[in-house]
Amino acid sequence: MEPAQIDRTPFADLDRIPPDLLTMLIAALETMGNHPEIRKVRGAAWAVLRPEPGQRLLDAGCGGGHVARELAAAVGPLGEVVALDSSTATLATARDHHDGSPVRYVTGDVSALDLADDSFDGVWCERVLQHVVLPDVAIDELIRVTRPGGRICLIDTDWRSLAFDGVPEHLAAVVAADMHSRFDGEQGIIGRTLRRRLVAAGLTDVTAVPVTCLFDSPQSAAVVLPMANPEVPADSWSATPDERGDWFAAVDAAGVRGEFLAVLTIWAVAGTVPAAGRHAGGPAAVSSVPAGAASAPAAVSVPDRDHGAQ
Ligand SMILES: C[S@@+](CC[C@H](N)C(=O)[O-])C[C@H]1O[C@@H](n2cnc3c(N)ncnc32)[C@H](O)[C@@H]1O
Repeated sequence: MEPAQIDRTPFADLDRIPPDLLTMLIAALETMGNHPEIRKVRGAAWAVLRPEPGQRLLDAGCGGGHVARELAAAVGPLGEVVALDSSTATLATARDHHDGSPVRYVTGDVSALDLADDSFDGVWCERVLQHVVLPDVAIDELIRVTRPGGRICLIDTDWRSLAFDGVPEHLAAVVAADMHSRFDGEQGIIGRTLRRRLVAAGLTDVTAVPVTCLFDSPQSAAVVLPMANPEVPADSWSATPDERGDWFAAVDAAGVRGEFLAVLTIWAVAGTVPAAGRHAGGPAAVSSVPAGAASAPAAVSVPDRDHGAQ
C-alpha cells in the first residue's frame, strides 16, 4: 500500500499515528456517522446505490464499520457485506462493534484489492479516495471486483466548497488554506471529480448528487469539520498558535451570538458497471441538474450509454 498525504491527513494510514490520536479519530468517525448532515449524505448515497436483499456488497475503506452494518441489514441473511480497510487498528474497532449481521472484515488496500473479479453486486466507498494517491487506480479496482450490472457508489468531499459566515473573513481564509494545503492534486476537490472519473471509466447510468452540509453552530461543525474541533491537536495545524487561538475565539463568539455558519459539499456518485467494454471512456451525453435545497439534494445524471447494462 502506498499511503497518500500521510503527514497531512492521518486517515491515509491510521496504523502509523499515535494511539491516542487513533482512538480520537475512530471515535470521531462513529460520532460523525450519527450527525444529521452525514446521515443526509448517506441517504443520498443509499438512494443511488440501491442495495437489495441477497446482494454481496463491498464497503471499501469501512472505518469503524457503521455503514457496513447498515448495508448488512439491507442485504439480509442471504447476502454478505465485506468491510475492507487498510488499517488493522480500525478494523479491530469495527469487529468490536460487530452486531452479528452478515459482515466479513478484511484488511486490504483499495488500490490493490485481493478480491476476485466480478465478485460483488455493489460497492460503497465513503470518504476514502481523498486519502489515496491515485484515485483512478482504486476506482479501476472497484470496477474490477464488481460484476457487470453491479453498482459502484463513491462518496467524497469537495474541501474547496468549505465556506464560513459569522467569523472574520481573514481567519476563515487561514483555516481554509490550512485544509487545502493537506491535499495534493485533485484529492482536495475529489468529490466534484467523481462523476467525471466514473464516466471516463465507462460506467453507465451515472448519477451524481451534491449534498450541501450545513453546520449552524460550532458544536455541530466540530463533529465533521476538523478545523472547528478544538480537540484536534494544536500541533497538527499549520496555522500559527496565535491564528488558531484567534480562530477558535471567533468561532466561539459567533456561536454565542447565534451567527456561526459553515457549509461543505459532499458528493454521492454512483454508476453501473457495463456488461462489456469497460473503460470505454470518451465523452458521454451528460445532463446536469443543479442541486436544489440543501435538504433535498437533486441528481445529476448521465444517460445510459450501454443499453445492455442495467
Ligand atoms: C475518513 S475515513 C472514512 C471511513 C468510513 N468510510 C466512514 O465513512 O466512516 C477513511 C478510511 O479509509 C481508510 N483508508 C485509507 N486509505 C485506504 C486504502 N488505500 N485502502 C483501504 N482503506 C483505506 C482509512 O483507514 C479510514 O478507515
